[in-house]
Amino acid sequence: MNYQRIKLHRVSGSLGAEVQGADLRALDDETFSEIHRALLDNEVIFFRQTGIDDETQMALAHRFGQPSIFPLLKVLGETGPTFQVIEDGPDSPNAADDWHTDVTWVAEPPKVALLRAGIMPEAGGDTMWGSMTAAWDALSPTMQGLLAGLEVLHDNEGFIDGVRIKMGDTPESRKIFDDLRRAYPPVTHPLVRTHPETGRRALLWGGNFMRRIVGMEDRESDAILEFLRRHIARSRFHCRWSWQTGDLAIWDERSTVHQAVNDHFPQRRSVHRCVVDGDRPFFTP
Ligand code: SIN
Repeated sequence: MNYQRIKLHRVSGSLGAEVQGADLRALDDETFSEIHRALLDNEVIFFRQTGIDDETQMALAHRFGQPSIFPLLKVLGETGPTFQVIEDGPDSPNAADDWHTDVTWVAEPPKVALLRAGIMPEAGGDTMWGSMTAAWDALSPTMQGLLAGLEVLHDNEGFIDGVRIKMGDTPESRKIFDDLRRAYPPVTHPLVRTHPETGRRALLWGGNFMRRIVGMEDRESDAILEFLRRHIARSRFHCRWSWQTGDLAIWDERSTVHQAVNDHFPQRRSVHRCVVDGDRPFFTP
């Protein structure tokens, strides 16, 4: 791909590129358009030591679409987009250390996420991404034929379990969880989705938000999901970013999974995060 305003350096064979030459504090439309294209081409892009603040990060998110209100906060009455500062340390180990795509338990999961490094540990604390496009492409035509068109039931029980650890199991928290279940009932998504902008196919992997493949016996569904869990964990589909404070990663939620590498525990680490609304995943035969 030809870029006039920015330079790209790939960070692995399957996905990921570092973008150089863009000042995120003063981004003209042409440069943003190349950044957008770089995101579609590379699935996750990185900017070293951006020097941006939360407000500029949110403004950048706005250029990709409507920044999301996190469903739990929506249930609690929040009406404006969510900007999260997630801090982990001795009392709160990072809970995102398993392959996932964000919030697949809603009908229209996010399309883009922006994560900026705040406090970084002296050692460790990287994040990894996996290309679900590459993982799909690597399957045999026979396996692709079996998976294409399957639907998976996703729900928020895995999310609620995580929040329960932090909030405790009290009458108040139980009411919030019931409200969340009512507002966001289980939803089905295609196991293989068509990317709405590139037209490419990718596995839609919701990690522990996935309950079962619709129309299958539990043991059939478990076997296929377990095979895929091991398939997407192969390093050939991955890239990894070692953060410095101020770095920004932007990834395409529609074609990737990610996980925090929790090897810095119990050292402290903080990240600044927002996501952009997506649309209903679909599969085109
Ligand atoms: C996330 O899952 O968005 C957080 C990843 C990280 O903390 O590295």
